[in-house]
Amino acid sequence: MDQGRRISFLTCPVLGMVWRIIKSDLGANPVEFLQHATGDWTLWFLVFTLGITPFRNLFKLPDLIRFRRMLGLFAFFYVCLHFITCLGPDQSFDVAAMWKDVAKRPFITVGFAAFVLLIPLATTSTAGWIRRLGGKRWQLLHRSIYLAAVCGFIHYYWLVKSDVRKPLFYGALAAILLIWRLGTWFSKRGSAVSMKLSSQRAPANPSE
Ligand code: HEM
Repeated sequence: MDQGRRISFLTCPVLGMVWRIIKSDLGANPVEFLQHATGDWTLWFLVFTLGITPFRNLFKLPDLIRFRRMLGLFAFFYVCLHFITCLGPDQSFDVAAMWKDVAKRPFITVGFAAFVLLIPLATTSTAGWIRRLGGKRWQLLHRSIYLAAVCGFIHYYWLVKSDVRKPLFYGALAAILLIWRLGTWFSKRGSAVSMKLSSQRAPANPSE
């Protein structure tokens, strides 16, 4: 799939929302509908982004890596829309009122933290930034996507009043991806340490 097709495919959810706005088909509470739709798509794009590496390794599909950056940027795009739908209709674009809300309501605080965590990731997603930061530092910074996903889950879990099945389903997916990642990290680290130890133990001159 070329770049243009990938972008148009990933904009389907937002085009669906625009279509429903045009048709005035947003249900009894249009603001709530848009807040929920943009929030849901943010979570899904975060899960898709986190799922790329495990999927790529499990099914031996190295080309999938080309999608990761774009999926991450789409997660950021949807969280921006989500933020606007919360700041606009709920707060009439009053930044002071928004700050009050962030400080007062824990589910907003943690959602806002997730949003803030995604800003440097979106900003530094270019090849130029990878070069400037260096591969290792860039990777370390981009691991905070896991923290953003966890904050996103807590935000969703806290805001739901009764039926917690949807947030728990999302949380389980995010947890599986996080555990998988930690598992590969520990096994890589373990093999690096054992290689180092065996090279230290091996005599410099085999005849000694
Ligand atoms: C990565 C960041 C975020 C994620 C993943 C996220 C996700 C979600 C999800 C999944 C929902 C509910 C959707 C549903 O019920 O189907 C939601 C609702 C909501 N979010 Fe977020 N959100 C994020 C950031 C934010 C931010 C920054 C704000 C505001 C400053 C915010 C404010 C809200 C509000 C007001 C609701 C509706 C609550 C209600 O229905 O009572 N979210 N969000």
